[in-house]
Amino acid sequence: MKILAIESSCDETAAAVVEDGRRVCSNIVASQVEEHQLYGGVVPEIASRRHCEAVVGVTNEALKEAGVSMEEIDAIGVTYAPGLIGALLVGVNFAKGLAMATNKPLVPVHHLRGHIAANYLAHADLKPPFLCLVVSGGHTHIIEVTDYTSFRVIGRTRDDAAGEAYDKAGRAMGFSYPAGVEIDRAAQRGTPTYTLPRPHVEGSRYDMSFSGLKTAVLNLLNRASQKGEEINRDDLCASFQLAVCDILSDRLMAAAEETGAKTIVVAGGVSANSGIRARLSAECEARGMKLYMPPLCYCGDNAAMIGAQAYYEYQSGVRASMELNAVASLPI
Ligand code: KG4
Ligand code: ZN
Repeated sequence: MKILAIESSCDETAAAVVEDGRRVCSNIVASQVEEHQLYGGVVPEIASRRHCEAVVGVTNEALKEAGVSMEEIDAIGVTYAPGLIGALLVGVNFAKGLAMATNKPLVPVHHLRGHIAANYLAHADLKPPFLCLVVSGGHTHIIEVTDYTSFRVIGRTRDDAAGEAYDKAGRAMGFSYPAGVEIDRAAQRGTPTYTLPRPHVEGSRYDMSFSGLKTAVLNLLNRASQKGEEINRDDLCASFQLAVCDILSDRLMAAAEETGAKTIVVAGGVSANSGIRARLSAECEARGMKLYMPPLCYCGDNAAMIGAQAYYEYQSGVRASMELNAVASLPI
């Protein structure tokens, strides 16, 4: 079964053709990041406009690269939540129009479910149940994936997502948006010499908080500039990355122990982080747990992951009508 998938929840316009939820026939991503960099973050209005301009071309390219015509497509999958509402609406309305014009079934996909499904594209042997850490620019969740379409949230951030903390702390350190990958690179050159907090959340063993860590970086930079002291940026990045790794790994391993999970999966843009990948590899190996991580090309937003999840949603009977709307915020 071939699914054409569309993703437009943030600042990438993406389309892909995926066969049986596992085989990527094409995967096209048009990034707007250079334009948003001018403003230090994603400007929602600009994102919507760029999606409008790009969505038709990106979809045609995905069909062309897969070597298929619209007639050979069995269903259309689309990200409908969560994300920037105006950005989501472009993909949703485009997919609805295409589904109506071609008389194909339309399958709505939750963006975080898509991030998790990115792992199915690279790991043929991976199937639920497993415990998944989803870390992106907008979300940080520990989720028990009991089946392809059933999920139980065990822990989550109470404030900033891990990627958001990377981007905001990075901005204060003088990196351009999105700062995650740049902090990661600098961290690999530095030594974690600065003391930063690892906040605990009252009343929950599995919830996380990143805003205090971000603020600690901002305070440290402000104090240093007031006193005219030099900050070693590589060392600060290494210290920040170590704190993020400590928080994520502590909560994930506690959740694994609690649920008795033997298989751990990581997903989302921040799963590209070298420190997180190395730390979770070591922790899982020490506990005899199997760890799956997406290849770097499927960590960030893309439509292939939406095509993978759309297949399993379709198999479980999920279909959208022409009443489908975009939703900015929606639990998994
Ligand atoms: O999943 P994603 O592409 O978009 C959302 O759904 O949010 O994640 C984007 C986030 C950004 O915050 C970006 O800074 C972060 O992923 N990111 C990283 C790395 N690569 C991307 N964070 C830390 N280390 C990286 N190597
Ligand atoms: Zn995402």
